[in-house]
Amino acid sequence: MTQSNIINVQHISKQFKDQKALRDLNFTIKAGEIFGFLGPSGAGKTTTIKILTGQMKQSSGFASVLNVSTDKINENIYEQIGIVTHNSGLYDKLSVYKNLEIFSKLLNVQTSKIDETLKKVGLFEDRKKNAGKLSQGMRQRLVLARAVLHSPKVLFLDEPTSGLDPSTQVEIHRLIRELRDKGTAIFLTTHNMEEAEKLCDHLALLNDGKIVETGTPQEIRLNHNKKKRYKILLKNNEELVLSQSEETVQKINWWMTSNELVTIHSCEPTLETVFLEVTGRNLI
Ligand SMILES: Nc1ncnc2c1ncn2[C@@H]1O[C@H](COP(=O)(O)OP(=O)(O)O)[C@@H](O)[C@H]1O
Ligand SMILES: [Mg+2]
Repeated sequence: MTQSNIINVQHISKQFKDQKALRDLNFTIKAGEIFGFLGPSGAGKTTTIKILTGQMKQSSGFASVLNVSTDKINENIYEQIGIVTHNSGLYDKLSVYKNLEIFSKLLNVQTSKIDETLKKVGLFEDRKKNAGKLSQGMRQRLVLARAVLHSPKVLFLDEPTSGLDPSTQVEIHRLIRELRDKGTAIFLTTHNMEEAEKLCDHLALLNDGKIVETGTPQEIRLNHNKKKRYKILLKNNEELVLSQSEETVQKINWWMTSNELVTIHSCEPTLETVFLEVTGRNLI
């Protein structure tokens, strides 16, 4: 394993009683990288996060986080990792500030870091509000603030923007990129192909516990761009989608020279289309 691999997963499988939830997963994540696990509900995303954060044991295979084997993870690692999941509870009766203060004490973080983090996630003005009175988007920003308060080297995000409004999603994406740019290794799960496309440096498509495709979002789309197609708009408002062929080239040539062509775009497959092609099912 090279030094820069913060997360290292080799042949990880997980069997629940009568069900194989993960099948021979292999991947690595480096510092300053957002690695996305894109898959539908039930694919095994949360199970993978639980194994990598020491909350559940794999049935076979080896995985390490910051050079610690997941078999040996104990609470010491929580000083170096941050986790955002859907059951990341908040103390509803306590203020936004107090929620962070409790964690700052547990993790030996200077209290000055609390205001700094609250400003970063846009909750500074709301610091005296009780957590129970926050909107869903504000709660998620508070959970994220708590997960990054101690500047962890690794951040696990389980569907961090699921169910949030678009502007909060954008805000959370900005924060995640900022952390990546500072060198945090980020493992993010999502069933949202747009989020995967926009945010992740590397992706693994997960279906039924198995990685069916990996690469950068662009690599994955272009690898599946076998049938090249073009979307064309003509002056007479006619819209056409044509496949690559000798005839198409001649037609385009003609429309161009006769000034009939208004717009032309190549249609690469989306991650959703790739997923459907590889697995026969949709992402949701
Ligand atoms: N504790 C558990 N016991 C038994 N089966 C489980 C348990 N946790 C998850 N599973 C099963 O494993 C599969 C993957 O679940 P999960 O990792 O939660 O998927 P995802 O997060 O991608 O929606 C599902 O079929 C789920 O029912
Ligand atoms: Mg899940």
